Amino acid sequence: MKEAVGSILDFAPRKLIRPGLVLLLTQDAEQLGCAAAEVVAKQLLAKPTSVLALPTGRTPIGMYRFLAEMCRQGQISFHSATTFNLDEFVGLEPSHPGSYHTYMRRHLLDHVDADPARVHIPAGDAPCLDCECDRYESEISRAGGLDLAVLGIGENGHIGFNEPGSPLDSRTRVVALTPSSRAANAHLFACPEDVPQQAITMGVGTILEARRLLLLANGPAKADALYRALHGPIASASPASAIQLHPNVVVIADTTAAARLPEIAT
Ligand code: F6R
Repeated sequence: MKEAVGSILDFAPRKLIRPGLVLLLTQDAEQLGCAAAEVVAKQLLAKPTSVLALPTGRTPIGMYRFLAEMCRQGQISFHSATTFNLDEFVGLEPSHPGSYHTYMRRHLLDHVDADPARVHIPAGDAPCLDCECDRYESEISRAGGLDLAVLGIGENGHIGFNEPGSPLDSRTRVVALTPSSRAANAHLFACPEDVPQQAITMGVGTILEARRLLLLANGPAKADALYRALHGPIASASPASAIQLHPNVVVIADTTAAARLPEIAT
């Protein structure tokens, strides 16, 4: 692991926000991806059968690149791990270029030794969406629960596609996407109108049951959301604020995403 990524977890500035909630600061997106990959790699090395929740989006692309490289070099393996993606658009076949199935193949699954039988992504094209959500929850339980949930954060404070207003005890379900979330995903589609109106998302309550959380935030557009997540009231208006309820959280943020945090000034 050291060869591929160095040991950024050892030298990245570290702030204790509160017991159980640690912030690691990185200089840029590249370092963030490297540090996040190192957290996931350590999890896999400590427990090869780990059950991971995985995000899509721009932020984790670097993390996946580092993980793929570590796997290529034989430093880690996904073979015995089980993965559950956080979300998928409703109405898209897995082969659709804008689907999160496609994203995961492109950025991770085509490059690592994951066992397809242990890779789980919600079926946005399921004939019964509610049945699919129930099935997803059951699969997570059957796998023994999530060991590590890796999360991005939306500008509006969403985690997964738990948009503002999502109950903090919510489970996997179908949700309506906000205009800002649809706009943030428009680059995956031929035109903005093609972005689906709904998604299946793991619930906030489902995510909080993971044994560890790793939240990633990159870029100045995330500064307000990250401030509210770590220091705002714990409220469904900012679903990411639910991480304050969890006893074992690492947040990795670049300096621009962390710019509003009071810990940075000290
Ligand atoms: C996607 C997901 C979302 C993203 C969030 C940030 O699977 O869970 O919560 O993590 O929208 O997206 P980016 O990284 O593109 O800014």
